[in-house]
Amino acid sequence: MQTTETKIRDKFLAYALPSIGEEEIAEVVDSLRSGWITTGPKVKRFESDFARYSGAKHAIAVNSCTAGLHIALTALGIGPGDEVIVPTLTFCSTANVVVQVGARPVLVDVGDDFNVTTEAIEAAVTPHTKAIVPVHFGGQACDLESIYEIASRFNLPVVEDAAHAVGTIYRDQKIGADAISQSMGRGLPAVTAFSFYATKNLTTGEGGMITTADDKLAEHMRLLTLHGMSRDAWKRYTTAGSWHYEVVEAGYKYNMTDIQAALGIHQLRRLDGFIETRQHYARLYDEAFANVPEIETAIRHSDRNHVSHLYVLRLNLKRLRIDRAQFIEELKAFHIGASVHFIPVHLHPFYQERFGYRRGDLPRAEALYECIVSLPLYPRMTETDVQDVIDAVQQIVTSNRK
Ligand SMILES: Cc1ncc(COP(=O)(O)O)c(C=O)c1O
Repeated sequence: MQTTETKIRDKFLAYALPSIGEEEIAEVVDSLRSGWITTGPKVKRFESDFARYSGAKHAIAVNSCTAGLHIALTALGIGPGDEVIVPTLTFCSTANVVVQVGARPVLVDVGDDFNVTTEAIEAAVTPHTKAIVPVHFGGQACDLESIYEIASRFNLPVVEDAAHAVGTIYRDQKIGADAISQSMGRGLPAVTAFSFYATKNLTTGEGGMITTADDKLAEHMRLLTLHGMSRDAWKRYTTAGSWHYEVVEAGYKYNMTDIQAALGIHQLRRLDGFIETRQHYARLYDEAFANVPEIETAIRHSDRNHVSHLYVLRLNLKRLRIDRAQFIEELKAFHIGASVHFIPVHLHPFYQERFGYRRGDLPRAEALYECIVSLPLYPRMTETDVQDVIDAVQQIVTSNRK
């Protein structure tokens, strides 16, 4: 444990904090004053700004990424008796939505870059497989070329979980762009779901967006966001709308509000700047830890940018006298927050009891889980904060070397 001489900071450094500027605040206040506080013109504007930013024909705002993933699977007709391939190293949401549509999540292993491997996906395909859900872990794209190759070989739709990947680029295209699914997926149905949760690179507090190039899917998903009510039902309280609507399907209540969109419109304008700061801080961490044998930094592929949503390091536990949990406790004693992304889904009791998964089933994700630590990384941090984290990590490593 640290001594008083090694005290680095007095104030606790939160693991994550949003960057909300005056423009966002003014836009939210404008919504509140306007009287239009639920889905309305600002949601429409945010959707078209997001579609332009991502290079997608359709962008549909929702109240979370989870909601987006859920309606994507629903619109693709996935249900009981079907299997959906999901990496185990993800947030429970990615697999929960598969359960919610009545299908079976087939959990598969990941590589050292934390992303699902194409070998694992290919080995998991059966005649019951109805979709592949790759997760762009931490803000770095999966090997989409190979994933779409498998998808087109087996004629499977792809639902990309891009909760971490707003702004991520793969081979010159933004994640969620039509060009990816249309060229690599050769027109297969494909949807991408983004999260705007409080810790994400772009936040609306809670919120999400789904993009697709597919007109029919887009229309169906839009319907599902608002009770299955016929088109533009949100306009029914305006002069442009009508009181009359028809429910054509039992949909959900997944629409985004104008208050959230007010944040999103300005966050989107600032997104590339946020990403640059995150990448700069990630480089400072990488450089500082490059020669520390007790630590391995993230693998970065040269054909994709990494938008540094997460900064996950791997502890070389063979060289340390402490485990990952103790490492995080020591960081806390230095007044630094940290987290773990993620507890593999197949280790959660629900997935073990319902689907029979066991420890040992997906060994690479399990081995990663034992040694991963996510350090604070967000634009509201200062370089001094970053240096404090570096100093704390180096001191913990030095005092716990074997
Ligand atoms: C990989 C992944 N998928 C999905 C989600 C769900 O996002 P939301 O909270 O917007 O529903 C998260 C949330 O952090 C996530 O990390």
